[in-house]
Amino acid sequence: MSTTQQSPTAAGSGANASENFKASAERRGVADTPPERVAAIVTAVLKGVHGAIQEYDVTYPEFQAAKAWLMAVGEGGEWPLFMDVFVEHAVEEQVAASQHGTKGSIEGPYYLADQVRLESTCRLPRRDDEPGTALVLEGQVRGLDGTPLGGAEVDIWQADADGYYSGFAPHLPEGNLRGVVVTDAEGRFSISTVQPAPYQIPTDGPTGRLIEAAGWHPWRPAHLHIMVRADGHRTITTQLYFAGGEWLDSDVAEATKPELVIDPQDDGTGTRRATYDFELEPA
Ligand code: DHB
Ligand code: FE
Repeated sequence: MSTTQQSPTAAGSGANASENFKASAERRGVADTPPERVAAIVTAVLKGVHGAIQEYDVTYPEFQAAKAWLMAVGEGGEWPLFMDVFVEHAVEEQVAASQHGTKGSIEGPYYLADQVRLESTCRLPRRDDEPGTALVLEGQVRGLDGTPLGGAEVDIWQADADGYYSGFAPHLPEGNLRGVVVTDAEGRFSISTVQPAPYQIPTDGPTGRLIEAAGWHPWRPAHLHIMVRADGHRTITTQLYFAGGEWLDSDVAEATKPELVIDPQDDGTGTRRATYDFELEPA
């Protein structure tokens, strides 16, 4: 961890994720859930809560502590963070059941739309003194039938070598290590970036306090976030992880899949290279 940089606080990334979530409502679409379905789902959730209270003979002080904690999550703007770490993977797994091609993974709270568009062979925007090992991710975007998809968008975002995301950490320039890479006529791309560090959920907010109170760890393994879009195809939101990476087998967000692990190799110049092809199904 760099000592010269100010660490983002829970207020600096949790609350920020809340603002980003509200601002991106249009992109997410409308749920439009009928009343019977609302009633069925909420009843099931409450049943789970009531069941836990009975099973563990929950006390009044524990109930009031839970209430205070829920209030703190809202006041600290940490609901996007909490939901994406502890709940999103289950939703993603449901969606994945009907999805073919490249496996998906959770989006998480740190996606920002409308980043700089880059040519198929490119370098992600970075600071002049960007720390970290050079990493190149190259590959091809194809349809399920193998057709190369030229002009597809490989929208990539990642933490830096200290584990922080631009837009959610005050010391990082806007757009750092983010970009929308457009594939060439053969559907190919080659993206130069740096190796991200594992990501730690902010430990100074209510989500971090819960993790500590439960004796869990707050880490996600190092990962690249990638959303791949191509005309006429179903958009895929996924993540790539690194072979042998710390926390790969105990991701707090439970969002790793064996098919999404890459194993970059040093090309002899100190740059690590990995190839990953994306296969998109028809929309
Ligand atoms: C969270 C952060 C991530 O980088 C991610 O990929 C998923 C979840 C989070 O803090 O909620
Ligand atoms: Fe992430």
